[in-house]
Amino acid sequence: MRRPGLLALVAGLVVPACAIAQAGATPPPVPVAASVTPPPPATGPAFSTATGAYSAAQAARGEALFGKVCESCHVAADFEGDAFVSKFVGGTAFDMFETIRTEMPQDNPASLPRTQYAEVVAYIFRLNGLPARAADLPVATDSLKAIMVEAAKPPPGSIHHQSRLRHGPTHLR
Ligand code: HEC
Repeated sequence: MRRPGLLALVAGLVVPACAIAQAGATPPPVPVAASVTPPPPATGPAFSTATGAYSAAQAARGEALFGKVCESCHVAADFEGDAFVSKFVGGTAFDMFETIRTEMPQDNPASLPRTQYAEVVAYIFRLNGLPARAADLPVATDSLKAIMVEAAKPPPGSIHHQSRLRHGPTHLR
């Protein structure tokens, strides 16, 4: 009567031991899975103005706003072509947004809501031939920091694209 009881006790000990071994075996897949996952794009902007970073409707609102708020001191050409490239290309959308937000309008800086600064930035992107997308340019700092300001990519082999940009505003007026 003691032996079966002992066997049952041993069996009872073995089963939990297996369960513990299996439970202990579960954690290792975590590092394995992490090494299989592609490297995160956490550092470095993930989006570019060259592939689309604002909506057409947003740029249209920006154009109207520019006419009301900025045109007393600027013309659109102030922010096109070389001026755009030298001031903003190579930075993030946040750099550009924040420069304009904290400095403009010069007689009343930071006086507009963030949505309107985003609209005027979208308008400047459009002026420079950058493509629109379905979604607006965001207004949140972190989202803006993830967008790289790059010049428009001309169609392969085209030099007309550049010259159209440079002289674009003249025929729009
Ligand atoms: C009261 C006049 C005035 C108004 C209104 C004004 N600006 Fe300006 N802006 C200036 C002047 C003057 C400069 C040159 C300042 C400088 O280079 O230090 C300037 C410079 C800039 C620059 C270049 C900044 C830099 O750091 O290179 C941008 C971009 C700009 N303005 C955008 C705008 C936008 C967009 C608006 C409308 C929301 C606007 N400005 C409204 C007077 C104005």
